[in-house]
Amino acid sequence: MDSASNPYSPGAGRRPFELAARTALINDFDLLISRAAAGRTDRGIVLHGLHGVGKTVLLTEFRRRAEDAGFLVVSLEGRDAEGGPKAIRAKLARGLLQAGRKANSRRATPALAAALGTIASFAAGLQVSGIDVGVGARHGRGDSGAFAVDLEETVEDTAVALAERQSALILVVDEMQNLDAGLLSALLGAQHQASQRDWPFYLVAAGLPNLPSVLNQSQRYAEGLFTYRRVGALDREDSATALTAPAAEQGVSYDPEALDLLLNAAGGYPYFLQEYGSAAWESAPHQRISPDDARVAVEIGRAQLDQGFFPLRWRRSTKAEREFLRLMAVDGEGGSGTATLAARAGKKMTSMTMTRGSLIRKGIIYAPSLGQVSFTVPGMADYVRRVTA
Ligand SMILES: Nc1ncnc2c1ncn2[C@@H]1O[C@H](COP(=O)(O)OP(=O)(O)OP(=O)(O)O)[C@@H](O)[C@H]1O
Ligand SMILES: [Mg+2]
Repeated sequence: MDSASNPYSPGAGRRPFELAARTALINDFDLLISRAAAGRTDRGIVLHGLHGVGKTVLLTEFRRRAEDAGFLVVSLEGRDAEGGPKAIRAKLARGLLQAGRKANSRRATPALAAALGTIASFAAGLQVSGIDVGVGARHGRGDSGAFAVDLEETVEDTAVALAERQSALILVVDEMQNLDAGLLSALLGAQHQASQRDWPFYLVAAGLPNLPSVLNQSQRYAEGLFTYRRVGALDREDSATALTAPAAEQGVSYDPEALDLLLNAAGGYPYFLQEYGSAAWESAPHQRISPDDARVAVEIGRAQLDQGFFPLRWRRSTKAEREFLRLMAVDGEGGSGTATLAARAGKKMTSMTMTRGSLIRKGIIYAPSLGQVSFTVPGMADYVRRVTA
């Protein structure tokens, strides 16, 4: 069928036509919005899950809903941490300046103008200049030079000013497990103060399965600050909807056997559903996708994944890391014991600790429990076996 009308969207962060099976998560966020607008505080939200399950897409949806509610939204991405701690703090300051300026020009209040002054102090302390908010830096707020203190004062002044108008400050953080320790603990500190003192400030974050433990290691009280939600694969019925609904919109249907073949290949993972759906669309000559079309699509879809989704991680790993991944792949998708891996390699466990650590930092594996490691990338075990065979 015509590529131009292909309704599937394989690719990081790309909004699917059908945001299947995420109503409960979206309802959680809508509840946060309505509670905040009514002046009642709530916990922030932390989404965690494997690569390609749709976390970024959900954060984007949350962001849109918060903006529609008239909330002030600032976004950060842990991946920006590549530019170093300084760059990501500067990005936070710019985001606050930009959002604060917009809110104040829509509806100025004395409290918001004062908060803008604090934001300006905070930004100046981080050497961010060039965004004129029409208000000078405020002396004595957000300018102590101690980052955590300045962030907290900035959050306080902004959130308290927003509370007057039934609004809130939402900080959306993707890939949160990659933030540097100083920024992470300052953000958690600000969220902690906000929840104790009823400031409408919420961290709404997403990251890999290790994110909850990263947060707890940063601050022991982190567990109580958030509603934690695991984002996982879709069940068979929702996966089927993710494939059939976008097609039906254009009068295209699936033969049941074709649908089965594609669902088996995708294993419920949103990214894979988009990739195989897209390949089926490209492979089918007629409005009804046949089992033969689906068989071709499974081959093409897998080749696409083998050229993009998997090598994205594989290429970033060193020789020693690849060997570690190869040893893990023997155990399949279920994860491996580190003692088993060491025995398999014929090495001491301690000699593999560094490699394990660097793979965790790169977000390719995580530790689901003590002495265990698993892939963060669904299907990675099979891929590693294919590529090292
Ligand atoms: N609920 C859904 N139904 C169908 N497709 C979805 C759904 N959510 C996300 N997708 C699709 O899955 C793919 C991955 O989405 P996204 O980039 O949000 O995942 P992620 O969890 O952020 O992955 P990563 O951890 O690698 O950043 C995209 O192609 C997107 O269109
Ligand atoms: Mg993402």
